[in-house]
Amino acid sequence: MSIFITMEGVDGAGKSTHIPTIANLLRQQGREVLITREPGGTPLGEQLRELLLHEAMHPETETMLMFAARREHIEQVIKPALARGVTVLSDRFTDATFAYQSGGRGVSPEKIRQLETWVQGDFQPHLTLLFDLPVEISTERLAGARSPDRFEREGTDFFDRIRNAYLQRAEAFPERFRIIDSSRTIEEISRELSEIISTL
Ligand code: TYD
Repeated sequence: MSIFITMEGVDGAGKSTHIPTIANLLRQQGREVLITREPGGTPLGEQLRELLLHEAMHPETETMLMFAARREHIEQVIKPALARGVTVLSDRFTDATFAYQSGGRGVSPEKIRQLETWVQGDFQPHLTLLFDLPVEISTERLAGARSPDRFEREGTDFFDRIRNAYLQRAEAFPERFRIIDSSRTIEEISRELSEIISTL
């Protein structure tokens, strides 16, 4: 069976480090894997990503552009891959919009739910891995990274609200979410990921 897996977490929580590990674990099970990302994943989506990461805009504009990119991504990439039996691994999806645009920027969650219904119907990930880390640690990790984008330049309060919004999403959808404690070593996290993937 093809599976749609998403990875989430505040910037600096370490999801990028673990994407290759997760992809390898899935391939070892004989699955074909497609790694993709949001915002992005299509030529138009990648252009929208450039705007989203670097151009100042109203939070609701930001929300609608996220969903515009997502509409293309779902129809052109995610659903066709799933239909071919491919396992899709997406670096962020709609939970990020609830966490960043609602939790972080204060956009009404009801408006986001309406866009979600419009763009996705009842289409949802089968599994969401939430890389969770106290914000003091994730921002410290980010400080050493390459030049920050519009989101990464925000302060600790912004990321605290995002982290809390993610944890609330996980609580609201326990059957889909797995929370990965990212304060542990890479080896420990890899071991847990291996256990999770082996149960798929
Ligand atoms: P990210 O995966 O962190 O890319 P990179 O590791 O290359 O920096 O994603 C880019 C940013 O987009 C990130 O700061 C979160 C933000 N984002 C939203 O605000 N809302 C969304 O719906 C999505 C998908 C991402």
